[in-house]
Amino acid sequence: MANHMLTMCLLVFTCSAALAFEPSPLQDFCIADANNSAKVNGVVCKDSKMVEANDFFFSGLHLPGNTSNFLGSKITPVNVVQVPGLNTLGVSIVRIDYAPWGLNPPHYHPRASEILTVLEGSLLVGFVTSNPENRLITKYLKKGDVFVFPMGLVHFQRNVGHGHAIVLAGFGSQNPGVVGIANAVFGSNPAIPSEVLTTAFQVDKNVVDFLQTKF
Ligand SMILES: *[C@@H]1O[C@H](CO)[C@@H](O)[C@H](O)[C@H]1NC(C)=O
Ligand SMILES: *[C@@H]1O[C@H](CO)[C@@H](O)[C@H](O)[C@H]1NC(C)=O
Repeated sequence: MANHMLTMCLLVFTCSAALAFEPSPLQDFCIADANNSAKVNGVVCKDSKMVEANDFFFSGLHLPGNTSNFLGSKITPVNVVQVPGLNTLGVSIVRIDYAPWGLNPPHYHPRASEILTVLEGSLLVGFVTSNPENRLITKYLKKGDVFVFPMGLVHFQRNVGHGHAIVLAGFGSQNPGVVGIANAVFGSNPAIPSEVLTTAFQVDKNVVDFLQTKF
């Protein structure tokens, strides 16, 4: 009996945790109507009589991203912004290109777990578990390998090969969102007061000022 109760509790908890992120669709599809100014949790549906194949379509993910930037990486997103047919469906995809030694710096996705596969090259990937352990879990990946980044955890990828690297990554959200750690902490607009950052990071104000100029 106690076991049965435990199983029920676990089941209820698991289901509610799963439902807590992106609600299940209530119709076949709900094509995002970018012209509608009404704000709902998601985007208003376009009239289904006007829906066409192109609402579910994106072209160009075979094209390399331009990695000529200080990180040496480029993300090409395909989410509800690019494909209005993804509205309410709870999935999306990105292509990431990395120059040799290029980096996708520490960041997290507030609304989705991520599953990534390497199409070309080799990468060092990792994520950090939440407090208090803050355990770093890393793995070297080569072509054909798959790795998962759990929702909301800080993670990164670095190209550790001498050539270019390419990955495709899927998300359990039409709009996973991204929070870059350095951008959010040192590049917020307006800036976080420097006394907050000097105490939080236990560094001098000139270090904070320097980092704020970088982001
Ligand atoms: C939004 O309006 C433009 C211009 O009237 C039209 O071409 C486009 O198809 C509309 N988009 C949707 C999703 O209805
Ligand atoms: C790539 O980006 C750099 C820096 O923005 C730019 O100078 C260069 O022309 C771009 N290359 C291509 C092929 O678009």
